[in-house]
Amino acid sequence: MTEPTNTDAWLERVFGAADKHDLAQTYDRWAETYDADMLAIGYMNPAVTCGLVCRHLADRQGGILDAGCGTGLIGEILSLLGYGRLVGLDISDGMLERARRREAYAELRNRMLGEPLDFADEAFAAVISSGVFTAGHAPADALDELVRITRRGGRLILAVASSAWEAGGFKEKIATLERAGRWRPVEVTRPYRPMPLSQSKGAATTRCCVFERL
Ligand SMILES: C[S@@+](CC[C@H](N)C(=O)[O-])C[C@H]1O[C@@H](n2cnc3c(N)ncnc32)[C@H](O)[C@@H]1O
Repeated sequence: MTEPTNTDAWLERVFGAADKHDLAQTYDRWAETYDADMLAIGYMNPAVTCGLVCRHLADRQGGILDAGCGTGLIGEILSLLGYGRLVGLDISDGMLERARRREAYAELRNRMLGEPLDFADEAFAAVISSGVFTAGHAPADALDELVRITRRGGRLILAVASSAWEAGGFKEKIATLERAGRWRPVEVTRPYRPMPLSQSKGAATTRCCVFERL
């Protein structure tokens, strides 16, 4: 199969991945040009996520898990803003290697959202995730583990694609966690286009949600 030659073609490829193995391999191959490609289409999730971290997380050293950290765009910004104890996880070794080179994360692990995570209960002051709760990537059920590893009173700051909001079960899962007293919604952005210069269907709209872990 020939390699995509532009960002929209890469996006079509990741949104159309056959399975998690194919998805990880596609991101491995995209890793080298991912930052340049995404920034060229005006990728907004890192800015929105980091803005919300600064608004909602006063404790800069309590530990933040960047779930699906990719090449570490967010880790680098948070590090510049004075946040420490950053941990990243991702399914793609290629993306993790790029994140490692930024020297912003204390630790990086190859782990899959949707499976049990080997972090202690309440290990982090915050868990953040950008560009991962979207079609064919991480499932709504992954939220259970992310809540478990966030400390009580901590924050979860999660970008959720509109395409996955109802079809992927996020709306229902979010409400279920609220009814169970596991978290409460603090803030939700209006839907925005995370990649405003992209023509790809998968790039439609996203909202970024902030929850307090109860
Ligand atoms: C669009 S990129 C976003 C990367 C980074 N968060 C950002 O905003 O630039 C999606 C990332 O999620 C990772 N990913 C996809 N599904 C995943 C899963 N189930 N568990 C962990 N990482 C996943 C991919 O390997 C990729 O690095």
